[in-house]
Amino acid sequence: MTESECRAAIAAEREAWGERLLILGHHYQDSAVTALCDAVGDSLELSRLAAASRAERIVFCGVRFMAETADILARGPEGGENGRSVWLPAPKAGCPMADMAGAEALEAAWARLTEADPKAAWAPVVYVNSTAEVKAFCGAHGGAACTSGNARRVLGRFLGEGRKVFFAPDQHLCANTARQLGLPAEAVALWRRALPDGGLVPQRIRAARLVAWDGCCPIHAGYTPGDVVAARAAHPDAALLIHPEAPTGVTALAEEMGSTKAIIEAVSRAEPGARLLIGTEDHLVRRLAADHPELAIRPLRPIVCQDMGRTTPEALLRVLREWPEETLVRVPDALIPPAHACVRRMLALG
Ligand code: 13P
Ligand code: SF4
Repeated sequence: MTESECRAAIAAEREAWGERLLILGHHYQDSAVTALCDAVGDSLELSRLAAASRAERIVFCGVRFMAETADILARGPEGGENGRSVWLPAPKAGCPMADMAGAEALEAAWARLTEADPKAAWAPVVYVNSTAEVKAFCGAHGGAACTSGNARRVLGRFLGEGRKVFFAPDQHLCANTARQLGLPAEAVALWRRALPDGGLVPQRIRAARLVAWDGCCPIHAGYTPGDVVAARAAHPDAALLIHPEAPTGVTALAEEMGSTKAIIEAVSRAEPGARLLIGTEDHLVRRLAADHPELAIRPLRPIVCQDMGRTTPEALLRVLREWPEETLVRVPDALIPPAHACVRRMLALG
């Protein structure tokens, strides 16, 4: 089948399903895939769309945690069968960062933290880049999810209420957001999962405002200050826009740090002729460069998320035609009520 035959076949299936189907795509998908989606967005926008949708079937061109989040929202606060389902065309598309935090290990760390500082009003906050089990852990303890687009709002709310936050899995999003909120670096203690008790003595836990799990996005965390030096040497007058999954030593050198959506908005606001270095996933950077020929857009250093790249138009067509069992994403019923509470609290915070 040629590319154009595949596109035409997808359009025919899409047409036949009408409003009973919603095809969502993350900004890090290849342009050949985003062109076939009903809506393209960052994690926060896509969660909102999944929550608002009444479609019977949502097909998620992205990675598993995003499809799970859509399923948690589509199934409602109680879970169970309601005739709605979520499908992931590339069932192997995971997220290495989400895999760095298991619910059992978080539960054990939570017990240790709350024991070390029992007077504190602890709250868990989990990055949406986490498994459904981890969201259920968070919801069961009264916490909320966040995305890179609302981490500041969500963490700001909990900290503003005098809560002490256990944040997982992304240490860099946590540290960058803490800095945006005006907290000193010492306010964040790092829980090192390979060490007994996270490597934290009780005094350190009591002194911290936030405790961050030591997970990271292996793609964004690979940026170094040396990348910035090299890119600035090649493009001396370019402004750097960077995603908050990058380490603080790199984001501190940027003109602007923001979520995927914030980066896209900053690009749309740039004056013609502006030179921009962008520190995030390369499918998006290449699309921005193609969509904005009036700007000089370069990657800080090209970084590719292999998992995001797994979805192809062919895989999408296969789902729309055959609905293979292995592409159905179904969060276990027992996890839905606490995981739903975790994600709904995030959406309620904005
Ligand atoms: P956004 O929250 O910006 O969509 O990012 C999701 C992601 O996976 C970034 O690596
Ligand atoms: Fe996960 Fe990083 Fe890929 Fe985002 S870019 S899906 S955080 S591995």
